[in-house]
Amino acid sequence: MIDYSQIPSPCFVLDEVRFRKNLELIRSVKERADVEIILAFKAFAQWSVFPIVKEYISYSTASSVAEAQLAFEEMGSPAHTYAPVYSDKEFPSILKYSSHVTFNSLNQFEHFYPIIQASGKTVSCGLRINPEFSSVETDLYNPCAPGSRLGIVSDLLGDTLPEGVEGLHFHTLCESRSTDLEKTLTVVEEKFGKFFPQIKWLNMGGGHLMTHKEYDVEHLIALLKKFQTKHPHLQLILEPGSAFAWQTGELVSTVVDIVENRGIKTAMLDVSFACHMPDCLEMPYKPVILGATDETPGKPTYRMGGNSCLSGDFYGNWSFDKELKIGDRIIFMDMIHYTMVKTTLFNGVSHPSIGLWTKKSEFSLLREFGYEDYKCRLS
Ligand SMILES: Cc1ncc(COP(=O)(O)O)c(C=O)c1O
Repeated sequence: MIDYSQIPSPCFVLDEVRFRKNLELIRSVKERADVEIILAFKAFAQWSVFPIVKEYISYSTASSVAEAQLAFEEMGSPAHTYAPVYSDKEFPSILKYSSHVTFNSLNQFEHFYPIIQASGKTVSCGLRINPEFSSVETDLYNPCAPGSRLGIVSDLLGDTLPEGVEGLHFHTLCESRSTDLEKTLTVVEEKFGKFFPQIKWLNMGGGHLMTHKEYDVEHLIALLKKFQTKHPHLQLILEPGSAFAWQTGELVSTVVDIVENRGIKTAMLDVSFACHMPDCLEMPYKPVILGATDETPGKPTYRMGGNSCLSGDFYGNWSFDKELKIGDRIIFMDMIHYTMVKTTLFNGVSHPSIGLWTKKSEFSLLREFGYEDYKCRLS
C-alpha cells in the first residue's frame, strides 16, 4: 500500500508490488499457453522499470522509430514493429531496431520489401489484416469501424500472400475479454485462414485485459491452446499494453485553490486533464479518486479543475466526506497505462514527476521535469 504522504505532488507513482503481480500473471499465461506475449510501448513505456519487466518477458512492440529504438536500447531486444505508415526517411532506423516489421497496406509492403532485401538485414515481414469485426463500441478505439485506415480487408488480398510475407497481424480489441478474442478468431479463420499455411506467425494484437479481476484467464489459455492445436506451425504472439500496467499506480495531485461560480465549486489542481489525463476528455471517462464518490446529495461536491487555460480542462463531479481545503491531496487511481505516455507540455504547465513505490515500501523519485523539457520541444 502506497503511503501517499511521502509522494511529491504532482507525480505519477507506479507500485512495484502491483506491477510485478501483473507481470507474473502475464508470464504464466505465456508459459502455460506456449505463446509469445510482448509489451506494447504505446500503453506503457516507463523505461526505468524495464529491468523489472525483463525479469518476466523479453520483447516489446513498437509503433514508431522512437519506440523501436527504446526497445533496442532499454529492453535490450529488437522490436516487433507495426506503424500505420512508414516513411522513406524513417525506414532505415525501423530496420535497424526491429526483428519483425508489419505493414499496414500492400502498397507499403511492396515499396519497402525490395529495400529490406537489398539491405541484407533479416527481418520477418508481416501484414496487418482488418477482419472488419470488433466488439469495441467507441469508434475512436475501434480499428474495424467502417472505412478504417488500419489493416487490409480480406477482399484486397486475393488467394495468395505476396512473396516475403511471413506473418499476419490483427488488432481489434480494447480492454476486452477472452470471449471477444474467441469471436474474433472465428472471423479471422473464416476470412484469412486460407493464408495460414503460407505464414509462420500470427500476431493477435493488444486489448487482452488479462489482468482485470473479471478476465477469464483459464478460458484464454484454453482458447490459445486449441487454436495452436489446429495450426501447430504458427507462432502465436499477443501484444497487450494496458494489461501490463492495469491498476498499478496513481497520479498524485494537490488542491491549489478552490473557486466558485454560481454554486459550482471547482477544486483547482496542480495537474491538468488536458495535459496529464487526456483520455478522460477524449474517451471520455471519469477516473476514480481515492476517498471520493460520485456526486452524492448532501455531501460536499466539487468539480476537479486542471491547471491549463483550456475551458474544458475539468471533470465533475465528485463528493467527499469533508469540505476540501487548499493543500489536500487528490489521488487519481489507475493512471499509469496510456496516461504517462500521452502527456503534453501544453501551456508549459509543470509536468508531474515519475516515481516508483518499491516493494520495500520506499519511494524512489525517477524523474523530475522542468523548464528545459518544455523549451527543448520548441525552437
Ligand atoms: C497495434 C496495436 N497493438 C497493441 C496495442 C495495445 O493495446 P492494449 O493496450 O489495449 O492492450 C494497440 C493499442 O492501440 C495497438 O494499436
